[in-house]
Amino acid sequence: MPLFLMTDPVCFDVSYQINPWMRPKAWRPEHRAAAQVASANLKAALKAAGAHVETIEAVHGLPDLVFPANAAVVLDGRVLLARFRHAERQGEEAVFRSVFARLKTRGLVEELVDLPEGVFQEGAGDCIWDADRHLFWAGFGPRSSKGSIAIIGRTFGEEVVALELASDRFYHLDTCFCPLAGGQVLYYPEAFTPAAQAMIRERVPTAQRIEATAQEAEAFCVNAVNLGAQLIMARAPASLRAKLNAHSYSLTEVDLDPFILSGGAAYCMTLRLDRSSQPQPAILAAAPLAAE
Ligand code: ARG
Repeated sequence: MPLFLMTDPVCFDVSYQINPWMRPKAWRPEHRAAAQVASANLKAALKAAGAHVETIEAVHGLPDLVFPANAAVVLDGRVLLARFRHAERQGEEAVFRSVFARLKTRGLVEELVDLPEGVFQEGAGDCIWDADRHLFWAGFGPRSSKGSIAIIGRTFGEEVVALELASDRFYHLDTCFCPLAGGQVLYYPEAFTPAAQAMIRERVPTAQRIEATAQEAEAFCVNAVNLGAQLIMARAPASLRAKLNAHSYSLTEVDLDPFILSGGAAYCMTLRLDRSSQPQPAILAAAPLAAE
């Protein structure tokens, strides 16, 4: 059963600005209630798709703790703990460290690894496992440092393809790049430097490249959770739905607008804990909600 980490959104808000989507002045108290509903709906969608969700407690003063994708890179039970670029999120490091220590005592992860001093790496938000190609795609530039690439490679003993991000609006790899179970890659080319775009084209044949438009990427739909033939994402433009259906993916859309106000959506609100480098059996289609 796929296992995801999520965070209780009770302390979520937009009170500082560390990316262009965040506008503290536009934040309203009612957004927090909407965030509770949105987060609960995302959790329900994951469960309906056959996943288990571990939920961690919120911490006052750490609103972005709701984005656990940034907490660590996890593969085969090994946890490479993140270091955040911005002071506003650095307080999350100790919280997530104790979360992972507890998960370790429960046998849900095996080993915690620290980054060397001076290296920034914002977890699975900037380092995404591609099961089909058996490699990590890792973003760097706005948040994670280029030096993180070699460390990820050494820590996991796996190939890492480094992609430089070119836009401050798509500041984490997961906002613009999503490898899918069938080998396709859903991505927004303009978010990458020309060299990174060339690297993607070199690795992913044309028939497997699903290019998102600016509108689709700005709807935070590339920031999707993929389980087999299913994709769970923020509300999608019809154009994207059609593209993904043509590749036999079915979409579950969740209204994640309160989190988009912080520059995040489905993928970064979750962290997959059970990812394995070994080939996995295909995940069966979701049971209908009524059978839950
Ligand atoms: N406000 C958060 C930040 O700027 C959003 C993080 C979203 N996470 C992600 N992996 N895209 O850090």
